Amino acid sequence: MTELRGRTVIVTGGARGIGAAAARTAVASGARVLLTDVREDEGRAAAGELGESARFVRHDVTSEDDWRRAVDFAVTAFGRVDGLVNNAGISGGSHFLEEQSPEAFRHVLDVDLTGVFLGMRAVIPAMRENGGGSIVNVSSAAGLIGLARTAAYGAAKWGVRGLTKLGAVELAADRIRVNSVHPGMIHTPMTAHVGIERGEGKYPNTPMGRVGEPREIARAIAFLLSDAASYVTGAELAVDGGWTTGPTIRPTEENP
Ligand SMILES: NC(=O)c1ccc[n+]([C@@H]2O[C@H](COP(=O)([O-])OP(=O)(O)OC[C@H]3O[C@@H](n4cnc5c(N)ncnc54)[C@H](O)[C@@H]3O)[C@@H](O)[C@H]2O)c1
Repeated sequence: MTELRGRTVIVTGGARGIGAAAARTAVASGARVLLTDVREDEGRAAAGELGESARFVRHDVTSEDDWRRAVDFAVTAFGRVDGLVNNAGISGGSHFLEEQSPEAFRHVLDVDLTGVFLGMRAVIPAMRENGGGSIVNVSSAAGLIGLARTAAYGAAKWGVRGLTKLGAVELAADRIRVNSVHPGMIHTPMTAHVGIERGEGKYPNTPMGRVGEPREIARAIAFLLSDAASYVTGAELAVDGGWTTGPTIRPTEENP
């Protein structure tokens, strides 16, 4: 199991889906976790399930003041901040470029990209004080390839990948590692409307033929937070069943 004993981690969007799973895995690995979200009831419930090692604070990632409060809360509750999982995000719906409204485009960028930027900025002083840290930015398969009908989301997620790279370069001297995780199609409330069933063979878009589970992203996040990834920075880790490796063509006898 990944070792996170003695570490304090902030997980944004921790009320449900990938964020809740990331918090659960981090606590199971020995970390103390501050879950944050705009969904107060779900966030408190998710933290409550994790016992004494977890707390919740309401936090809108687009607000600089909220970021200040969240970091202060973590330091007051747990004494330090070693890890940040910039996970909160919205899909903004599915629109062709031509149909994407500029207002909605800006809103998605505000949450999915500016929120990550504000988070990186907000934790630097606390991490510096500890002599280092690890920031994991949750991008997407849509941040690795051009996915149709994701003009805003795709732009934001490519932006997150870029911020990760330059953050890794700028912060290496402070021993702060910065990496991005790129989930494929994962079974969470965000993707519920797509109606894809879970199970082997139910999602032929990926070579592995199935959607992923939040815990499978959570394990990748925990790895990047931990010292097991001590020489990993600026990396992009696709956790997508092979979706972004290329066109999904399964060899057959007729077409080997
Ligand atoms: N589910 C997938 O297939 C998938 C694929 C690739 C990437 N991702 C990314 O993973 C992350 C988590 O997605 P998920 O599937 O768990 O989604 P989700 O909708 O289940 O959870 C996202 C959480 O973020 C919170 N949130 C939204 N706006 C916020 C804001 N302004 N401030 C604070 N919290 C806010 C929501 O309240 C929610 O609890 C997102 O960044 C998403 O883009 C998901």
